[in-house]
Amino acid sequence: MNRRNLLKTGFALAGGSLLASNASANTALSETLEQNTLADTTRGRRKLGQLEVSSIGLGVQNMSRKYTTEIPSRPEMHNIIRAAFDRGVTFYDAAEAYGPHEVERILGEGVAPFRNKVVICSKFGWNIDQETGARRPGLNSRPEHVRKVVEGMLKRLRTDRIDLLYQHRVDPAVPIEDVVGLIKDLIKEGKVLHYGLSEPGVQTIRRAHAIHPVTAIQNEYSLLWRGPEEVIIPLCQELGIGFVTWSPLGVGFLTGAIDANTRFAPGDIRGVETRFSPDNLPSNLALLALITKWAIQKNATPAQISLAWLLAQKQWIVPIPGTTQMAHMIENS
Ligand SMILES: NC(=O)c1ccc[n+]([C@@H]2O[C@H](COP(=O)([O-])OP(=O)(O)OC[C@H]3O[C@@H](n4cnc5c(N)ncnc54)[C@H](OP(=O)(O)O)[C@@H]3O)[C@@H](O)[C@H]2O)c1
Repeated sequence: MNRRNLLKTGFALAGGSLLASNASANTALSETLEQNTLADTTRGRRKLGQLEVSSIGLGVQNMSRKYTTEIPSRPEMHNIIRAAFDRGVTFYDAAEAYGPHEVERILGEGVAPFRNKVVICSKFGWNIDQETGARRPGLNSRPEHVRKVVEGMLKRLRTDRIDLLYQHRVDPAVPIEDVVGLIKDLIKEGKVLHYGLSEPGVQTIRRAHAIHPVTAIQNEYSLLWRGPEEVIIPLCQELGIGFVTWSPLGVGFLTGAIDANTRFAPGDIRGVETRFSPDNLPSNLALLALITKWAIQKNATPAQISLAWLLAQKQWIVPIPGTTQMAHMIENS
């Protein structure tokens, strides 16, 4: 199903009655989308702590295996990474765990022609065998392990430094002071330039920040999940830490790609998310209908409205929508 059909399906199911009375608005929307694919570029830059990035990034998690479990074409993933750069995107989000290892390789290959002009992010923290890439149970942020992980990342990403290195999940077995102590050493050695934390608790952020300034927190945040507004975003404001939003499109839901007729493939993790269960989906589709209504009013797509909403929350919030489709990258950027 192509992008236009996908959008139509989203509109038809979520905002059908609205569309029936608004056919001319829909035609205008289609025309605007065509123009956007040719003319738009990611505008503006944002600051995460002291690190400047494009106001929209690109999440590359699914470039070795999509949520739907398909394997995307590697040359096409390179094309998307490069076309994103041409459109002003300079902020690329990977992790050791994606693949594992393979997504870092794809990103390193993709950005090689312009590596010095972009910000590369990756994440450590899962217990992954450094030789084979096999996943082992649990977390591992032991400093000696993290040092090895970073050496592997540098090779896979074809670079001599990671611009922004995150701890993917807090390891309760290793005090955050030990983790940040190691990161400080890596920063002194020039192998890491900035660091961040993903899904940490408040005290972890404060303790880490006291040892070395945290550049960014990376948490799930979108119109579908607003949990960080309670404590974490105010804390980022207090401490001057940037905020990067993962799954800013609600793993596709906020684009209209998921509806009551959706059946997830075996192995697609979205199939076990309760927000998409038959009991909960109708309530969440009401949110999508509202977003779709705004999209029509603004001559935009639901995905664009969802990203614009995030950008409007704070000047230091940067969404990293993930995609494996050129048309979606263009729409998002
Ligand atoms: N720190 C963490 O723990 C963590 C967790 C999850 C994700 N992340 C990061 O956040 C990034 C983004 O998150 P995500 O990929 O989970 O979720 P997302 O960006 O909210 O949504 C991605 C999904 O939406 C689809 N999509 C994207 N743009 C679209 C558009 N314009 N129209 C229709 N469908 C569209 C994608 O499919 P197509 O490929 O077909 O476009 C994909 O299935 C990841 O790549 C990763 O870097 C971090």
